[in-house]
Amino acid sequence: MLCLGIETSCDETALALVREGKLVTQCLASQEELHAVFGGVVPEMASREHLRIMPQLLEQLLKRGRVELQDLQLVAVARGPGLLGSILVGLGLAKGLAFSLGIPLIGVDHLLAHLLAPGLEQELDFPLLGLLVSGGHTQIYRLDSPFSYQILGRTLDDAAGEAFDKSAKLLNLTYPGGRHIDQLAVLGHPQPGLFPAPYVDNDNLNFSFSGLKTAVANFVRNNPGLRQKQMDLEPDIKQMACKVPELADVCAAFNQSVVKVLQIKVHRALQRMPDVRGLVVAGGVAANSSLRRCMQSLADEQGLELYLPDKDLCTDNGAMIAYTGELYVQNGYEHGLDLEAVPRGKDIPWDFIVREKNR
Ligand code: KG4
Ligand code: ZN
Repeated sequence: MLCLGIETSCDETALALVREGKLVTQCLASQEELHAVFGGVVPEMASREHLRIMPQLLEQLLKRGRVELQDLQLVAVARGPGLLGSILVGLGLAKGLAFSLGIPLIGVDHLLAHLLAPGLEQELDFPLLGLLVSGGHTQIYRLDSPFSYQILGRTLDDAAGEAFDKSAKLLNLTYPGGRHIDQLAVLGHPQPGLFPAPYVDNDNLNFSFSGLKTAVANFVRNNPGLRQKQMDLEPDIKQMACKVPELADVCAAFNQSVVKVLQIKVHRALQRMPDVRGLVVAGGVAANSSLRRCMQSLADEQGLELYLPDKDLCTDNGAMIAYTGELYVQNGYEHGLDLEAVPRGKDIPWDFIVREKNR
């Protein structure tokens, strides 16, 4: 089955072709530069940019995949959670194609797609524990199969990626600042106890990162020399760390606090579920080098398989949408043309049309 995947839930316009669980090709247009000056995604600009770039991106994808529009057998689209206006652009294209080509349509949960993305690279052995860490979400899942899963914990305020981006903004690093903090942290030495590991002295699997952001804000206020004078789109990280070594140290301490919280909660969840066979870590923050190392040692220690997608598959992409959509349709799930978009903060409804398997 040749499946087109469409992803427009935030600030990446991404398309991919997947056939029988394998990536054929993909295209991505990032809006990072557009939003960087505002220090965050401007929703209306994001929707308009998706709409502007989509036709040329689709043309590019078909050319790269050496296929015609008529060769598509299925359209999968990220239906949320995300920015409503942005998702509607993807849904509009998906519905138009499904209707005009007379092929099935499937709406994909963007978060579930992040968790299943490693399936593009290796077979997933369920049940799995999933840590989803992105710009908008931080959640722990138990996944019994791609079609049966539950959320065990979620953030009560900021997401992990949001904490990275907001702290980066306080240091006047370009949005999205997660990767800049990561690169600076690698060059720094964390001062123990500089920042708290918030919301771990309890027995639940939820998160709270807003206190950590406040701690960074207070620290930067008392140490104004840490704030970069000029915001560069592609900053020279090494030069920055050489000029102000304390900046790298602060980033290292912050990064360590986030990773420590994630480590404690994932370890706690694993203790409660001795039957899980593997650990999936997904979403943009899964690209963080310190988190990757930490989750590898945790999985090794627990004798678990670690599924950590390639860095390109961690951030938003069309391949994970196409992969998840194809998997669902092959197992009898589909949506009608009345498929609805789901905004951030709302749970994705289980509203599939269920048909016979392996149609
Ligand atoms: O999954 P994603 O691409 O988009 C959402 O669905 O939110 O995640 C984006 C988030 C941003 O907050 C970005 O700063 C963060 O992932 N991120 C990182 C790294 N690379 C991306 N955070 C920490 N370290 C990184 N290397
Ligand atoms: Zn995402």
